[in-house]
Amino acid sequence: MGAAGFPRLGGLSAEYMKKQLTDFASGERANPIMQPIAAALSAEEAHAVSTMLADKPWPAVERVGRAAAALGVGEILALRGAWERNIPECVACHGPGGVGVGEAFPPLAGQSTQYIAAQLNAWRQGARNNDPNDLMGHIARKLTDAEVGAVAQYFAGLAEKGAGQ
Ligand code: HEC
Repeated sequence: MGAAGFPRLGGLSAEYMKKQLTDFASGERANPIMQPIAAALSAEEAHAVSTMLADKPWPAVERVGRAAAALGVGEILALRGAWERNIPECVACHGPGGVGVGEAFPPLAGQSTQYIAAQLNAWRQGARNNDPNDLMGHIARKLTDAEVGAVAQYFAGLAEKGAGQ
């Protein structure tokens, strides 16, 4: 239910989902809705539900990489970063088109503008502190409100385009 800020789970890596459940339960990722749910799950249940959801398909995404032309605030951050402020391009870790890489780097395209922006703001506000080595926190804290909105819209838009292919 992306427009309401709830993320897509089907097709997410099972290991990533299990890590998030652990982080919600410990409070490293603070969220009033998810914290009690995650805390109530046993390890077996967290494993079973993550494995079941990971089996679902993720939507088609246009895999735009670093070599593509970049126009506008969101696309420039996504494909070029802002190295003068030590912000690497998002696709360096999240993969071309933000499709996600392995178990540690989640997909961005396929999530809603609202969810992506809410996560960046959670890092900016200190509500989400579960990323290894502050990889995301140090990036999010350097972004302006306008940049958060633009880059969130950019990645959400890639899955919408991919869906039509
Ligand atoms: C240096 C590597 C790196 C770069 C560059 C990077 N990220 Fe991330 N990002 C991560 C990692 C690692 C996580 C997962 C953190 C965790 O374990 O919860 C993540 C998670 C996220 C999430 C949360 C997704 C979810 O479903 O939980 C969002 C949103 C996000 N990144 C947006 C961005 C944006 C936008 C950019 C570019 C401005 C960016 N990231 C650049 C490493 C990176």
